[in-house]
Amino acid sequence: MNIINKLITNTIPLLPKFAVKFIADNYVAGEQSYEALEKVKYLNSKGYHVTIDLLGEHINDNTEVKKITSIYSNLLDSIYNESLKCNISVKPTHIGLDISAEEFNNNCYTLVRKASKLNNFVRLDMENSKTTSQTISTFDNISADFESIGTVFQAYLKRTFDDILKYNKPINFRLCKGIYNESSNISFKNKDEINENYLKIAELAFEKKHYIGLATHDTYLIEKIYELIEKYNVNKNNFEFQVLYGVPMHGWLEKHLKNNFKVRIYLPYGPQWYEYSIRRLKENPSIAKHVAKSLLSNRDY
Ligand code: FDA
Repeated sequence: MNIINKLITNTIPLLPKFAVKFIADNYVAGEQSYEALEKVKYLNSKGYHVTIDLLGEHINDNTEVKKITSIYSNLLDSIYNESLKCNISVKPTHIGLDISAEEFNNNCYTLVRKASKLNNFVRLDMENSKTTSQTISTFDNISADFESIGTVFQAYLKRTFDDILKYNKPINFRLCKGIYNESSNISFKNKDEINENYLKIAELAFEKKHYIGLATHDTYLIEKIYELIEKYNVNKNNFEFQVLYGVPMHGWLEKHLKNNFKVRIYLPYGPQWYEYSIRRLKENPSIAKHVAKSLLSNRDY
């Protein structure tokens, strides 16, 4: 870790809560479901699709895990009742993976069954590499019965290309670089290598006609993806661009919409915003630098 990152990591816990809140307000929709749903309505009115994430992870209390599952279930009802263009993104350890694979599977099934009934969709976020195999396995099992589930693959993991290669029918996945600190035995550390793998996987998805959520703010990658879309004449119904709420995109979102490309905004909310912000910043101090830069830029919506 370089000196600046170390300094940031040591300083963050000393920041007053209001200062962290000031920063988090740019990235988090609020504490309550109704606040997130209000933001969804606004973003829908601007032409964006949304995925809602209830902040939190690593819950190992059964009652709490059931509570989280039912909040997500209620969100699916509200989205349906208010005809919103919005699905849900769920972290496996938020709905039971730290308790057992069975608990996670059961809760996941509950949400996917409900989403299927309401014509909606559940995205399983990808957490650190300890959870990768189980997340993929649960996704594989449930997607054999339901179309309303997708997962995430991380371009920094060396295993990812082969993980996707094994599918002989189209699946629905989000592709991101990956945010956790992984060992160099299993992950690419160099930005160019991660980008190269990202594009290799995107190309594979276009060739094999998987549905891909292209989650990145990296304009180099976005330009290359535009070239691939043209090269493979990819159907607009086979991909979407995805971004985190609050990250400045310098006109790219507007450009996507003008091209009739679907854009989905990942919208986190929940009472856990403080713990979440602190943990993420400590885990990956480079985010702090992005945040500082983005506070000086204009929003796209
Ligand atoms: P890169 O890190 O190179 O960033 C490019 C530029 O974007 C930066 O220079 C900066 O300007 C801006 N930027 C990036 N992140 C920013 C931030 N947080 N705040 C302000 N500006 C920022 N990861 C994971 O492991 N599992 C998951 O399930 C998901 N899910 C997910 C969903 C969506 C919709 C997105 C966009 C991202 C994720 N991620 C994720 C996170 C992802 O793995 C990755 O860490 C970040 O997107 C940053 O990578 P970029 O591709 O944006 O490139």
